Formats: sequence, structure tokens, C-alpha cells
Amino acid sequence: MPNPLLLAAARSDRMRGLVTSVPLTRGVVDRFVAGEDLEAATGVVRELAGAGLRVTLDHLGEDTAERAQAEATRDAYLAMFAAFEEQGLNDGADASVKLSALGQALDEDLAFDNASEICAAAGRAGMTVTLDMEDHTTVDSTLEILGKLRAEFPWVGVAIQAMLRRTEGDLRDLAHEGSRVRLVKGAYAEPASVAYQGKPEIDRAYVRGLRTLMAGSGYPMIGSHDPRIIEIAQALAATLGRPAESYEFQMLYGIRAAEQRRLAEAHQMRVYVPYGADWYGYFMRRLAERPANLAFFLRSFVSR
Ligand code: FDA
Repeated sequence: MPNPLLLAAARSDRMRGLVTSVPLTRGVVDRFVAGEDLEAATGVVRELAGAGLRVTLDHLGEDTAERAQAEATRDAYLAMFAAFEEQGLNDGADASVKLSALGQALDEDLAFDNASEICAAAGRAGMTVTLDMEDHTTVDSTLEILGKLRAEFPWVGVAIQAMLRRTEGDLRDLAHEGSRVRLVKGAYAEPASVAYQGKPEIDRAYVRGLRTLMAGSGYPMIGSHDPRIIEIAQALAATLGRPAESYEFQMLYGIRAAEQRRLAEAHQMRVYVPYGADWYGYFMRRLAERPANLAFFLRSFVSR
């Protein structure tokens, strides 16, 4: 299970200052983050596309406390859509958006307006948008904004976290025609009152959610690197007679890259590509997910 101390550190400004000030961190960050600017991200996307992989682009940033910063994030997405269209990278591409980066905690209407502009620009570029899901306090607001966005942009998708106890009900509501849902285990530290705590419980909840989505009439997006989950998804698709184009697998950039390429041979496979200077929170969640990543990170300090 994700390391709770590292998840707490992901939200600590003191730790952020410490970790981001060390130049050596950069090399480890590069494993999970495509680069600090759009040019670096497009290089990575070109390479992935060459291997038959689709992408969803995440302009890094979260927990925005200022309106100007929220608008800068919106503009970064608009610039990305324009560049993707111009460079012919838009076909089948998606953008992943964190509403907290668009001002959700400041003013929900601001986040909605920014998200709406992002969706309009994505639509013009022939791309789609998926809302990331953040900690459990934001789920109601995110689903409400999703509903409003879908009234105009019915292709907007959302990530749903299997670890949350409420999720089974949310998935039943979302498993309808045209609904794009990315099922993930959940990357945030959550109390037992709202979330399953142990890996076996979370994995079982994931499989229950997967069944609901695969049996429904929406478009399931299986966001997991877990080999057992992938096997179960393939078995469910076969049992339910779901054609390969009616669902997709998704994994994060830098994690199980060979498996991403293997799956792409017979399935739709999408890679989540984060880029931008504000990589700290994303990077710390990746460290928290796997103790070996932390060891790798620490070794990079002592081996120099
Ligand atoms: P699990 O954690 O059980 O890992 C299975 C195996 O995958 C591990 O044994 C290891 O081999 C590999 N692995 C997993 N994480 C790794 C890591 N960090 N480094 C190296 N190897 C690793 N969460 C969220 O709360 N909101 C969101 O919007 C999203 N969005 C999202 C998009 C996509 C495309 C993916 C794949 C994931 C997310 N997540 C997310 C993160 C998700 O909630 C979860 O934390 C991670 O995917 C890890 O869970 P797994 O399902 O991979 O299984």
C-alpha cells in the first residue's frame, strides 16, 4: 500500500522545498515525468506514438491557491492542444486535468469555467479530456463539474478510485452509454471511514468496479499496472464479448514500459504522460506507491 509518510510529504511545503532544491533529484524525476516543458513532452509523445501507444497529457500542478495560477494552467492546456494539432499529434490523444489546478478549492465556478475552456479547445483540436480524481473531499464537486461539462462535451471522462467505499454506487451511475471512466486504485491517503485500507480489500473493490464497468455500456479505461487486474479485465472482456475497441488499458509513463508495448499489440493502450515544472506532488505519490522507488531515489544521493 502507498506509504502514508510519503503521501503526507507530498503535501508538505517544507519537504517540497527540500526535495526540489537538490539537483540530483532531477535524474530520478525523469523516470516518471516527461520533462519540464511542452517541447520535452511532445518528444516523448512522438516516441510513444511510434510504438503504437496513445497518450493522455497531464500538465503538472495541483492545489492551486491563486486565480492567476489557475488561469496559467488553463492556458498551458490551450497551448498544448494548439501544438498537438499543428504537429499532427492530436489524433486519438487525450488530456488529463486536475480540477484543483484550475481553482476548485478557491471557487468551483472558476474551476468549471477553466475546465470548460479546456474542453472547448480540446474538442476543436479533435482531442478528449479526462478529469483526474483527487482526495475524497473533492469527489462530489468533481462529479458535479463532470455532469455540467458533459452537457456540452459528452466525451469528457473521469477517474474513479476503487479504494473509496462510495465508488460502487458512483460506478453504477457512470456505466452508461458514451461514459468514459478510468478506474484506478487510488493514490491519496484516506481515512478508514471513507476508504478501504489494505491491498487485498482495495484489489477486491477494484475487481467489483471493473465488473460493473465492463458489464455496462460505457467505455471502461483500466488504469492499473497490476498484472492480475489486467488478466481479469481481459477475461471479463472475453466472457462479456466486449470487442478490443470498446475499452482500453492505461498506465503511467515510466512504469512497466515493456508491458505497455506488449499490451498495445492486441489492445488499445494509453500512457499517462505528465510534464511541467510542478512535478513534486506527482513524483512523491509515485515514490509512495513502491518502496523500491524510494530506495532508488535515496541511492542516487549516496552513489555520487
Ligand atoms: P499496485 O499499486 O498494486 O501495483 C501493481 C504493480 O505495478 C506493482 O507491483 C509494480 O510492479 C507496478 N507499480 C505500481 N506503481 C508503481 C510505481 N509507482 N513505480 C513502479 N512500479 C509501480 N490515482 C488517483 O487517485 N487519481 C487519478 O486520477 C489517477 N490517475 C491515474 C491514471 C493512470 C493512467 C494510472 C495508471 C494511475 C492513476 N492513478 C490515479 C494512480 C492509481 O490510483 C494507483 O496509485 C497506481 O496506479 C498504482 O496502482 P496499480 O493499480 O498500478 O497497482
